[in-house]
Amino acid sequence: MFKINENYLKLPGSYLFSTIAKKVNAYGNENPEKKIIRLGIGDVTQPLAPAIIDALHKAVDEMGSEQGFHGYAPDLGYEFLRNTIAKKDYEARGCNIAPDEIFVSDGAKSDSGNIQEIFATDNKIAVCDPVYPVYVDTNVMAGRTGTYDINTEVWSDVIYMPCNADNNFAPELPKEIPDLIYLCFPNNPTGATITKDELQKWVDYANKNGCVIIYDAAYEAYISEENVPHSIYECEGARTCAIELHSFSKNAGFTGLRLGYTVVPKDLKSGDVMLHSLWARRHGTKYNGAPYIVQRAGEAVYSEEGRKQLKAQVDYYMNNAKYILNGLKEAGYTVSGGVNAPYIWLKTPHKMTSWQFFDYLLENANVVGTPGSGFGPNGEGYFRLTAFGTYENTVEAIERIKAL
Ligand SMILES: Cc1ncc(COP(=O)(O)O)c(C=O)c1O
Repeated sequence: MFKINENYLKLPGSYLFSTIAKKVNAYGNENPEKKIIRLGIGDVTQPLAPAIIDALHKAVDEMGSEQGFHGYAPDLGYEFLRNTIAKKDYEARGCNIAPDEIFVSDGAKSDSGNIQEIFATDNKIAVCDPVYPVYVDTNVMAGRTGTYDINTEVWSDVIYMPCNADNNFAPELPKEIPDLIYLCFPNNPTGATITKDELQKWVDYANKNGCVIIYDAAYEAYISEENVPHSIYECEGARTCAIELHSFSKNAGFTGLRLGYTVVPKDLKSGDVMLHSLWARRHGTKYNGAPYIVQRAGEAVYSEEGRKQLKAQVDYYMNNAKYILNGLKEAGYTVSGGVNAPYIWLKTPHKMTSWQFFDYLLENANVVGTPGSGFGPNGEGYFRLTAFGTYENTVEAIERIKAL
């Protein structure tokens, strides 16, 4: 008789965004005349930039010819893309990352969920609280998190690093030493960032204590301030302690196309075993590569035209962020984020819980956001709005909130 992976049964509730979708659908069905504005899930709304569309068309045509046809992609991804990434994302920033340390994938969600596979089950993870749920849930599935306390909403074997107004939503170095540390800056959900000097302290801590930092840089393109690192490899010593995850979703609108990459430096070792070899083995065994046409589109992200067009997209979303920030401040809300990230993190008014505020906003302003408590216990009493809507919808949503 087969047995299931019982770790799955430990997962509390359904995935946050499925719960939101169910609630919004139910409200929409009961109130078909209402125009609901969705500023909840972090999906982009701008169409793909012309430079990317051109690259896609060209690659599709190539695939229709005998000489241009491409079958299975190389395990690590096409060299044209890895060379471009190494040059434009790393060399240009003074970081020493070789093309063969870059693994092209279908996005940062898969990589952030799969990376834990190369570590022992008894490794202890540390996560920010609140946190992007994928880091914790995938470790639950792997049986690494102990037992769940439904009252406190914490796992017995996870080290939580609270991020709240007291520490400006930046975690402090944990007193209990973890094995794996998940960090994400600019942060989802709080929109917070840390300076290069602060990140250096994490790198030094990890090297001193033998930890690996899994650094999620999915929102790197939204950094607008100086001294906020775009990559953890800007810090001294990061090659011996950090894995970095990247996505093409938020900087280039690839949420539906799917492309990302992960960097595993060859200096990152356990004894004399390179983590690079383990991830290469895993990647080669379980993944058959992002499509050629999508990797060509990824290359176009770095072209002169592509860069110009994508900067305009990021600016468009950040203009929304500014509108949300200022509008909510005017309406008396306590808000943060939205300067180096497309997320605005607000304190719920009148001591409402995050889900109470979700219902209140849905029913009274027909605006959908994300309850902070869905990202962890320290997110309770907070709420996330995204700047990924259209400008018109963003303005309308904020005007409706102001009028409440
Ligand atoms: C922190 C973080 N990492 C990764 C992802 C997923 O990125 P991708 O679309 O590349 O899978 C998201 C998406 O919202 C995210 O917020």
